[in-house]
Amino acid sequence: MIRFQQLRPWLAVTLVMGSVVLMSHAADPAPDAAVARARKQAQMLDDLYKTAIVLITENYVEEDSDLAAGDAFQALFKAMSDKGYHEVRLLDATGEPYDTDNTPRKGFEQKAIKALKGGAATYEEVVEADGKRSLRIATAVPVVMKKCVMCHGHYADAKPGAAIGALSYTIPIE
Ligand code: HEC
Repeated sequence: MIRFQQLRPWLAVTLVMGSVVLMSHAADPAPDAAVARARKQAQMLDDLYKTAIVLITENYVEEDSDLAAGDAFQALFKAMSDKGYHEVRLLDATGEPYDTDNTPRKGFEQKAIKALKGGAATYEEVVEADGKRSLRIATAVPVVMKKCVMCHGHYADAKPGAAIGALSYTIPIE
């Protein structure tokens, strides 16, 4: 017959293992769900910004001296960043940017441009700074209409549908 005295060490080991499993769940209840929410937010923002850029270019930009949607949206991105919602950068993928500030930076941005030029629709990484996680996600910008070429002459050589740029988001994971 097995006495309780003999079982005690096993009981202790089982309890410790059980609480380790419980603790790891308590610290991070559903990490994938939080990342999925940030990704969904990025998709919504991407549709919103791109639809608005195309509508403005279609209806308000007639000459190359008109205020480009790209310029107006840099101001909009800054307003969103100042309020702490998210960061957006408009990136060049051709090596000939209008504004050199839009040249992809080392690390995430250069890796993202490489992936998008290789045909990926998006590229993403989860990063951590000061104990806070963020989703960095870049989406492709193709030449969506002839008018784009009015200001970006070299887009005429781009393959239809190919990424000539990107929108790069940094979204807090909450
Ligand atoms: C009226 C001129 C004009 C038109 C039309 C225009 N752009 Fe731009 N674009 C600009 C300017 C100016 C910038 C630089 C904005 C900045 O960063 O201040 C820019 C920036 C960009 C960038 C970032 C890389 C770079 O060159 O600096 C991309 C990508 C881009 N535009 C794509 C497009 C697409 C796609 C279209 C068509 C939907 C388009 N543009 C139409 C003037 C234009």
